[in-house]
Amino acid sequence: MLITNIKGLVGLHPKDKLVLRGGEMKNLPVLENAWLLLEDDLIKDFGKMSEIPSHIANLNTQISGTGKYVFPSWCDSHTHIVFAASREEEFAMKIQGKTYEEIAAAGGGILNSAGKMQRATEEELYESASIRLKQMILKGTGAVEIKSGYGLTLESEIKMLRVIKRLKADFPISIKATFLAAHAFPTEYKSNQKGYIDLIINEMLPKIAAENLADYIDVFCEKGFFSVEQTDEVLKAGAKFGLKPKIHANQLSVSGAVEVGIKNNAISVDHLEETNQETILALKNSQTIATLLPSCSFYLGISFADAKSIIAANVAVALATDYNPGSTPSGNMNFVVSLGCIKLKMLPEQAINAATLNGAAAMEISKELGSIAVGKKANLFITKPMPSIAYLPYSFGETQIETVILNGKIYNG
Ligand code: NIG
Ligand code: FE
Repeated sequence: MLITNIKGLVGLHPKDKLVLRGGEMKNLPVLENAWLLLEDDLIKDFGKMSEIPSHIANLNTQISGTGKYVFPSWCDSHTHIVFAASREEEFAMKIQGKTYEEIAAAGGGILNSAGKMQRATEEELYESASIRLKQMILKGTGAVEIKSGYGLTLESEIKMLRVIKRLKADFPISIKATFLAAHAFPTEYKSNQKGYIDLIINEMLPKIAAENLADYIDVFCEKGFFSVEQTDEVLKAGAKFGLKPKIHANQLSVSGAVEVGIKNNAISVDHLEETNQETILALKNSQTIATLLPSCSFYLGISFADAKSIIAANVAVALATDYNPGSTPSGNMNFVVSLGCIKLKMLPEQAINAATLNGAAAMEISKELGSIAVGKKANLFITKPMPSIAYLPYSFGETQIETVILNGKIYNG
């Protein structure tokens, strides 16, 4: 497939550039007035229109890029899109001033989703997650991480992970699965937390590893959820089965989660709405990616992460949706990129890099995805005609995406 007269080809990082740290995030290479050739599922070549070789100019399948930009697909490295039911009843509670913790204590929250999950069939879960995933893809997402964590029993956690495995097989995008049984303590283990940790470590993990159902392990390390010590124990057990951590850290408080994640070689520590100088220093001295989820802050009305200080500490920042029924009922990466600019004060270039190459890095797939380079996967989107790149995050809530291409083919849902 050949795309010609492209106003700007965005995100032309060298193929061996696998992550962008700190100051590098400002650099978003763009080729103006360009052509792009895709062959099979890969990016074959690109260049300036003024220098297009005649054998390429004569090729058949052409899309006109006049006035339009071509971006690498969004890489959404943190979602919980397998869930049994929405929770809009909590929406009204939130509007009336109840906090996330109060709603959870009143029978809402993760345990509410877990109850519904236990009653849902694998087929129902697969159907509803497929609808969500299609919508996300049509909004430009070309790679996604999906977590378990609404099961909280051996059977239900496996059910969720099997749904993710089926999505992996059926969808034309990269999908990573994360095991998040340590999301909340089930009611029956409220006064026997050790019993639940033992269940995760001794029963769930071996079964999940045997069926090869997860790529990563996650823990919600937070006051009222999992302590630093419990997080450490679960992550160490996961490591024995080759699962690297991507964890929920510092969403509601500075909890020591960042440090315990880094200590256990986390690929990413996610959320970071609450940080102090020590947490930023710990990140600075690590390879761990800081994944920020501004649409969660937006929806819950909690703090926005201090992206500027984190970037100033030379850390790699990724942006992701956190799509889930409780804290972020939206999988729109375009809106996340807008919030990255508007609320996290990231420049458009920084936010776009965070949502593409660094998002791919936070799923360890940046060798194949996250930028436009010869030999990388042809997962991209073509925008509507736009005056500039900044117009995409500027026009928040609007979708500037006109055509989605996955594996070199147009995707229509
Ligand atoms: O990332 N913080 C923990 N987990 C989710 C929310 C889960 C829920 O409320 O259902 C999050 O925000
Ligand atoms: Fe989350």
